[in-house]
Formats: sequence, C-alpha cells, structure tokens
Amino acid sequence: MPTIIDGKTTAKKLRESVLHQTEQLKAQGVVPGLAVILVGDDPASQIYVRNKEKACADCGFYSEKHALPASTTEEELLALIDRLNRDDRISGILCQLPVPGHIDEQKVILAIDPKKDVDAFHPQNVGRIMTGDILFAPCTPAGVMTLLDTYGIDPKGKKCVVVGRSNIVGKPQAMLLLHRHGTVTICHSRTVDLPAETRQADILVAAIGKPKFITADMVKEGAVVIDVGMDRDENGKLCGDVDYDNVAPKCSFITPVPGGVGPMTIATLMQNTLLAAKLQHGLQ
Ligand code: GUN
Repeated sequence: MPTIIDGKTTAKKLRESVLHQTEQLKAQGVVPGLAVILVGDDPASQIYVRNKEKACADCGFYSEKHALPASTTEEELLALIDRLNRDDRISGILCQLPVPGHIDEQKVILAIDPKKDVDAFHPQNVGRIMTGDILFAPCTPAGVMTLLDTYGIDPKGKKCVVVGRSNIVGKPQAMLLLHRHGTVTICHSRTVDLPAETRQADILVAAIGKPKFITADMVKEGAVVIDVGMDRDENGKLCGDVDYDNVAPKCSFITPVPGGVGPMTIATLMQNTLLAAKLQHGLQ
C-alpha cells in the first residue's frame, strides 16, 4: 500500500513556521496584512475565502475581507484594488477567482501591484516563474513541490506528467517541476491517448477539475500521484480528480482529498504574504 502524503500536517508545520517568523517581524514593528476580495456569492469561493481568513488569524496576520455583491462594476473593483495597493497595512492582495462575467479577469490581475501579488498571477510574476527567478511562489504548485520535498521525492530525471494546463495550476506546476530537472509533459483535453501519456508518469499531477477522472488503468505501478482536484462526486461528497480507492493500491505515494494539496495552497499563501511584508519593509 502507498504512503499517504499528509498535507494537513505538513501545512500546519509550515503555518507554525510562518507564525514564528511573524512574531519576529512584529518585534520590529511590522505586521503582515492580507486583503482578500470576493465578488459575488459562489459557495466554493466563500469556503476558500473563509479558510484564508482563518489561516491569517493562525499566522498572526492583519487581514481584511472585502465581500462585494455580484453587481459590483469593474470600475468599483479596480478602485478598491487601487486603494489597497496604496494602503501600508496591506502586504498582499488576493482577489478570489473566478469573478463575475461582466468583469475582465485580466484587468483585475494587472491592477494588483506585483509587489503585493501573493497569488503570483500578474504577468511580471508569471514571467519570473518561467525564468526561475521566482519572487512569489504560485501557491498550489509550490505547495505540491513542498509536499514532494517533505516526502523525499526528487523530480530530477523523472518523467513528470501534469494533466491540466490552467494558468493557476497546470502551467506553473510544469515550470516548477522543470526547474527541478523533471522531464515534463503537459496533457489536456485535446491530448490524443491520454492514458498512454499518464502511464509513463513517475510523478503524475492531476489538475483537471473532473471528479475521479484518473482511473487505475491510467497509472503506472509505483507512481507518485498528486491530486489537485477539489470536486464533488455523484453523491455531492468532496473528492479529487483521482479515483483514489482504485488508484491508491498501485502508487508509492498519493495525496488524499481532502487533506492533501488543499491545505498546502493556503499555507503557501501565508508564506507569500509574510515575504511581501518583508520585501515592503526592506527586510528581505
Ligand atoms: N480560485 C481558485 N484558486 C485560486 C487561487 O489560488 N487564488 C485565487 N485568487 N483564486 C482562486
């Protein structure tokens, strides 16, 4: 049976380390602050935002939640971001995506000061992820890398297959694995013979957004399987992109859902907010 990668415990340790560093920073008169913006009433986003606020409290941060109605105009949202960019209490700004359809997501991403862009979505930070000169780590992919490191899994020379090509997960995940000398393949909905690709993987990262999409026949014996999915199964129960019960027996390591990658995303966001505070006060 595989080793189950415990994201909950790993994230807790990371948050404790952030709290410790925050206490040292506070002794120098600096308090990290995160502003979280939520537009509309998407239930999943509401849960994510609540968890982010709770993590801020655990890490000793100042935090502000801006819950705006779905009718908020693009102009109003951009004005809020402008105000937060200039607010010294705010080290990091995060606008929960997706935003309602009448707001241009790209404009929102561009409006956030790259020095406060703790999601690493601004093209300036995306470019730095591409070259390897990383300022802010992309939260979910970097959380995955921390899990691999924690469990002694080295991507160097390994065949890494990332399923999913989103800007938030798939593309930056591929870059981080590449920087660590993995041989990386990115697969997506137009890939011809996906199972043939995924069966090659020593490290398989599933970031598709479809419940239990990765089945046992798609996984090589002894593979490391990382499940980034946060889906609902046919009974409305939280599950991942991997058919865990059938895939797990074939793996050397696997992440569960919940309790795998999810907590790492938030812990990495806390790490980024701490870094933003340090940078803005010339302490890093
Ligand atoms: N929506 C889904 N994942 C994320 C994330 O990591 N950050 C933000 N801002 N929105 C998201």
